[in-house]
Amino acid sequence: MIKIAGIGDIHTAFDEEDVRLFNESDYDLILICGDLPGRSHKQTVQIGSILSGLQKPALMIPGNHDSTSVLQLLGEITGSARLKREDPRMEGRVQELKEALGAIQMGGYKLHGFHRKHGWDSGESELDIITARPHSMGGPDIGFQPYIEQQFGIQSQQDSAQCILSLMRQSKAPVRLVLAHNGPTGLGSHRNDIWGCDFDPDRGDFGDPDLEVAIREAASSNQSPLVVLAGHMHHALKGGGQRTWYVEKEGIHYVNAARVPRIFRENGEKRRHHVRIELDRTDVHVEQILW
Ligand SMILES: [Fe+2]
Ligand SMILES: [Fe+2]
Repeated sequence: MIKIAGIGDIHTAFDEEDVRLFNESDYDLILICGDLPGRSHKQTVQIGSILSGLQKPALMIPGNHDSTSVLQLLGEITGSARLKREDPRMEGRVQELKEALGAIQMGGYKLHGFHRKHGWDSGESELDIITARPHSMGGPDIGFQPYIEQQFGIQSQQDSAQCILSLMRQSKAPVRLVLAHNGPTGLGSHRNDIWGCDFDPDRGDFGDPDLEVAIREAASSNQSPLVVLAGHMHHALKGGGQRTWYVEKEGIHYVNAARVPRIFRENGEKRRHHVRIELDRTDVHVEQILW
């Protein structure tokens, strides 16, 4: 089986000790769901350069906190047209993150062919990873729409769904996995559902609609992913409680890896969270790991 470590929203909780532990682990591949910083771009670059110490094949999709500014985030949250307009510096910040990550692949509307022996995009793929829409904010709108349109030509949820679907259709590997910052809609509208809205429960299902459409269409032609790994909606709920982090539905395993903070203390001991996913053509095994 291919052994994958899924790292959820980091939000500054990743250090040299993590690098050592992952480098010494038995994982074949490390997948990172994004949201590296607290608030500043400087932190994103700092965490990116710590991640660059990983010696295993690794791939990251940027979250809404990666390479975006506090003003942009405020625009997305308030809906202010003035703040949501294009930030010409975002492209440069994404480039800086890419450089900090070194050999780690950065995804977003891409097909990444992986082979344990031959590495990335060798033409022989054991596992295809489809990275979905980058910088997702969750919910019905496209987060950072001017940037997404400028970089990828995506104007709407429909465009985005078609783009993700066409990547799944291009995939010829025996197994597919989707890596996204936020998971798809369609898995529940309660605050404690895997991508349900806890900060405003009236908003219900806070998944990405484009991703749900792409997965549904791919399934109709037998090209659905076996696993969907994402984060964004943190496990600890506003107002108390924990969300469901793992769901299997119609043969697809949905994993929300966003345990925030991912490094914490339990009975006086430091713990480090990630998700272990083992898969082959037919079987999937998922568990939460606390190192
Ligand atoms: Fe997050
Ligand atoms: Fe996020």
